[in-house]
Amino acid sequence: MSTTTPPPPLTADDIAAWERDGYLVVPGAVSPAACRELMTRAAEIVEEAAGDPVSVFSTHEQTRASDEWFLSSGSQVRCFFEEEAFAPDGELAVPLERSINKIGHAQHDLDDAYDRFARAPVMAEVTAGLGVAEPLLVQSMHIFKQPHIGGEVGCHQDATFLFTDPLSVIGLWVALEDATLDNGCLWTGPGGHRGPLRRRFARAGATDADGTRFVDLDAAALPAPGPGGPLVPLEVEAGTLVALHGRLPHWSGPNRSPRSRQAYSLHVIDGTATYPDDNWLQRDRALPFRGF
Ligand code: FE2
Repeated sequence: MSTTTPPPPLTADDIAAWERDGYLVVPGAVSPAACRELMTRAAEIVEEAAGDPVSVFSTHEQTRASDEWFLSSGSQVRCFFEEEAFAPDGELAVPLERSINKIGHAQHDLDDAYDRFARAPVMAEVTAGLGVAEPLLVQSMHIFKQPHIGGEVGCHQDATFLFTDPLSVIGLWVALEDATLDNGCLWTGPGGHRGPLRRRFARAGATDADGTRFVDLDAAALPAPGPGGPLVPLEVEAGTLVALHGRLPHWSGPNRSPRSRQAYSLHVIDGTATYPDDNWLQRDRALPFRGF
């Protein structure tokens, strides 16, 4: 029998904050030891990836969209490089361990360390507390936000990338290191989830080679990112969990500091909703989505 103390259920105030703001900050949700363990495992995966084909991740770039490496990663554990990791001659300009943007997207089902982290009681508890009836863990991202070159993640809504009918995706974002203004913390706008979903990111055809496209759903502009705009920074300590509503616009800036800002992000949908065949993330038949 496990001796782990179950996490406390969400309070009425937590639920009220979630409904009002579209996000919920849970400090101390994950222990420092668990954060360190995941960063250690990530470093091993990066080391093992030394011979991988190159794939650059950027939410600005259409190159990503047509990248088969990306589109077939829904059932894999893959490394994606930072755009600024390369010199003009195409060689890595920084050491391999400082060059990776993220690891994604199925490590919670393929790697023991990520399985433990993603399926920790606190993750299931928060998901249930936020009303997800039949949780399915669809996407993992270990985000490095590397020192000096960690790229901006443009303002977006997660439901753009993980659409369901009805909308159901929530993000469970865990700071593995302190996230500050300096190293590219999350920014978001309280209440932004009450706005419409602006667009969907969809497969353009039946195969990975067909690439992807954005489908516009609503012309309302997303909030302008950055200082002086409507979004507010979420500076949080390592171990903090931030739950994000699928329609909540959020953004994170580049990291020009000498410190990384690692985070683990898990996306969960409700299995009672329909998951379209043209979502970018598809699983091999042998690896169906699972719950906690
Ligand atoms: Fe996101």
